[in-house]
Amino acid sequence: MPKKMMPKKESDNRVLVFDTTLRDGEQSPGASMTLGEKRRIAETLDEMGVDVIEAGFPIASDGDFEAVREIANLVKGARVCGLARAGEADIRRAHEALRHAKRPRIHTFISTSPVHRKHKLQMEAEEVLDAVKRSVSLARSLTEDVEWSPEDATRTEHDFLCRCIEAAIEAGASTINIPDTVGYSVPDEIFDLFRMVRERVPNSDKAVFSIHCHNDLGLAVANSLAAIRGGARQVECTINGLGERAGNAALEEIVMALNVRSDRMPYETGVETTQIAKASKLVSAITAFPVQYNKAIVGRNAFSHESGIHQDGMIKNVQTYEIMSPETVGVKSSSLVMGKLSGRNAFRKKLAELGYSLGDNALSVAFKRFKALADKKRHIYDEDIIALVDDSFARGDRTIRFVSLEVQTGSEGPNRARLALEVSGEERVASVEGNGAVDAVFRAIREIVPHRARLGLYQVHAVTGGTDAQAEVSVRLEADGRSAYGRGAHTDTLVASARGYISALNKLLGQESDTLPAVGGRGI
Ligand code: KIV
Ligand code: ZN
Repeated sequence: MPKKMMPKKESDNRVLVFDTTLRDGEQSPGASMTLGEKRRIAETLDEMGVDVIEAGFPIASDGDFEAVREIANLVKGARVCGLARAGEADIRRAHEALRHAKRPRIHTFISTSPVHRKHKLQMEAEEVLDAVKRSVSLARSLTEDVEWSPEDATRTEHDFLCRCIEAAIEAGASTINIPDTVGYSVPDEIFDLFRMVRERVPNSDKAVFSIHCHNDLGLAVANSLAAIRGGARQVECTINGLGERAGNAALEEIVMALNVRSDRMPYETGVETTQIAKASKLVSAITAFPVQYNKAIVGRNAFSHESGIHQDGMIKNVQTYEIMSPETVGVKSSSLVMGKLSGRNAFRKKLAELGYSLGDNALSVAFKRFKALADKKRHIYDEDIIALVDDSFARGDRTIRFVSLEVQTGSEGPNRARLALEVSGEERVASVEGNGAVDAVFRAIREIVPHRARLGLYQVHAVTGGTDAQAEVSVRLEADGRSAYGRGAHTDTLVASARGYISALNKLLGQESDTLPAVGGRGI
């Protein structure tokens, strides 16, 4: 009989934050990340004070295994968790990836709902129950900290759910996570469910209960908060709500709701809230998933007041329209910062203030781009520097690099682009006509790097006000059921467009293999 972990005290109001940006978040189509990018996110989450980082699904691919292994070695404070289905191979692979973690956790799961049992697993209820016992016992024989999840728990018969939970705790799981896998529940129901399982499962006091919500009805955060009220003391979430379909519960919204409304919800997390904006920008830059402008907490409009009445109120007293200060989540108000004459040290200091710490090489690249921008643009704002650095980050791990672009365009045509790219270290040039300037630029990329990917999204926005503002372009490319986002920033919209497209293409190629097919080869 395995040794039991110490349960959390009932009265304990500390809620553990379990971040799954690198696992469930990465599962969203187009959000795949390289190893280096995952490391950067893991470091940021650790600095931010999350309690558990779910770093990946080790059996899913060698890349996932490697990411979990590296993050396990890297992370200092948080527990590092690897996901495993109920089979022996999954659990052993997760254990292997976590071998060097200071505080490893194996998270094993199996579906419990009738629809999943019948159509996905083709297993009878009793077979699922046996699998729960076997999988948790095996995981517990390998590591002390085991989390168990009944996938699609919220559509599972209550009796069967309770039997599975009891068996998982009996076999040694110290955390029981209840996922609303398909985002079907409403808050009252989740509250009742947590109350019910905690009351009915005889050994429920021996485990920490956890909630994991998807956002299909836009209720993931509300459901997570209801679960906490119902006794959950771990909440699973992602930065910016990244995740499959409509995403997972957003970490920043849960943490700030608990923080701002502690009068109604007297629970604490260990998250340093001033790191939230930085983490949000990093995840958005790396995945090239734009954050909705009016997104709570981290949207660019979340703290801006446009209407006259609101502005007037704000001038008289900020509490008229602001329930938290932007500084609490690490948002600094826009400021005129630097110019042509600013040196490398001032630039480095400014980056640190904005929450970036770049290595020497990355700093040199970013500084060169800053100087080029300062030559073109009179006023450089914080937002310009953020766009510039994010663009440089997003273009890490590249096989294709932008070199130069000349475009001839006008109402009478022809629209012609002469584009130079560096492909696997070799410079290639194409001069191509198109149906408009953007089309000419994208055709030139396709001529240099032949591929079949389709343009799924092309979006331009100005980083700041003014006609000399930088353009930030988001591009989504789709091929063979896969997709990748890219983002590029520049004062010239066409250069930003080329950069955005190339960033997406690099990601799409990276998903397939590490090397680029020869020109004229099969491409994507
Ligand atoms: O949504 C879900 O059910 C999951 C489980 C693997 C926890 O992500
Ligand atoms: Zn999930």
